[in-house]
Amino acid sequence: MATLKINDLHVQVEGKEILKGVSFSISEGETVALLGPNGHGKSTLFNAIMGHPRYKITQGSIYLDDLDLTNLSTDERARAGLFLGLQNPAEVPGVINSDFLRAAVNATSEERISTYKFYKLLDNATKELKMPFDLATRSLNEGFSGGEKKRNEILQLMLLNPKIAMLDEIDSGLDVDAIQTVADVINKLEAQGKGFLVISHYARLFDLIKPTRAIVIVNGKIVLDGDPSLIKRIDQTGYEFIKTELGISIEKEESKMNEVSIGSCAVRESIKK
Ligand SMILES: Nc1ncnc2c1ncn2[C@@H]1O[C@H](COP(=O)(O)OP(=O)(O)O)[C@@H](O)[C@H]1O
Ligand SMILES: [Mg+2]
Repeated sequence: MATLKINDLHVQVEGKEILKGVSFSISEGETVALLGPNGHGKSTLFNAIMGHPRYKITQGSIYLDDLDLTNLSTDERARAGLFLGLQNPAEVPGVINSDFLRAAVNATSEERISTYKFYKLLDNATKELKMPFDLATRSLNEGFSGGEKKRNEILQLMLLNPKIAMLDEIDSGLDVDAIQTVADVINKLEAQGKGFLVISHYARLFDLIKPTRAIVIVNGKIVLDGDPSLIKRIDQTGYEFIKTELGISIEKEESKMNEVSIGSCAVRESIKK
């Protein structure tokens, strides 16, 4: 049974320290919910674990069992058994989805997969995901709806067969039926013994996949690591108790956010008025 161990991880993005000493572990067979207010470092943690070059590890380590992943490339981490389903999957015009998926399968397995075997796998997986097969034959994510992009991330997960999968807001953009379909897939893979680290703001997905533990990140640090009952509490009452019970003040998203969205500009403008 493989265990992913994160020890005292410090991560900088664009020269700014976002993660300030994160330690936890997750083993195959566990499903861990990762919670925390917007902009506090959840996606940064996933990207750093997966080895995204923009997320610079300045201190600490990442191990999968005895293998030190801290300085390995993303594809080496994928080969070791990690997977990341992205919050915002990129559109890649000109790269056919199925070609990309097949290249990814070949890159993470010992031997090359035959065309017949690959299409059989792809056909079964798209059926299980209730995904139209033509999405596999189009350019990767180009013109896909939000929900189709998320389903395509789960399709990759099914084909790549990792030991530990990180899913970043995989339910955003999915309608109720699609959340159920995705949860069914996760539950099946869980039953096969895979580990899941799941970010979501919604209790609905967690109700369906039943995490065994919950971790809360605030201000780039883990402030709670414990019982999954935390999920219900946060869903019902928000993060205020972190302040009142733990004495940790929650830095505001507005002051942390570097990325500017039209929405937040509009909000700022309306606040000024
Ligand atoms: N690629 C990036 N470029 C610039 N800033 C980033 C980038 N990724 C994350 N950040 C910043 O790091 C902080 C944490 O972001 P993130 O990890 O995405 O938060 P969460 O997933 O918890 O909502 C935010 O202030 C965000 O603007
Ligand atoms: Mg995020």
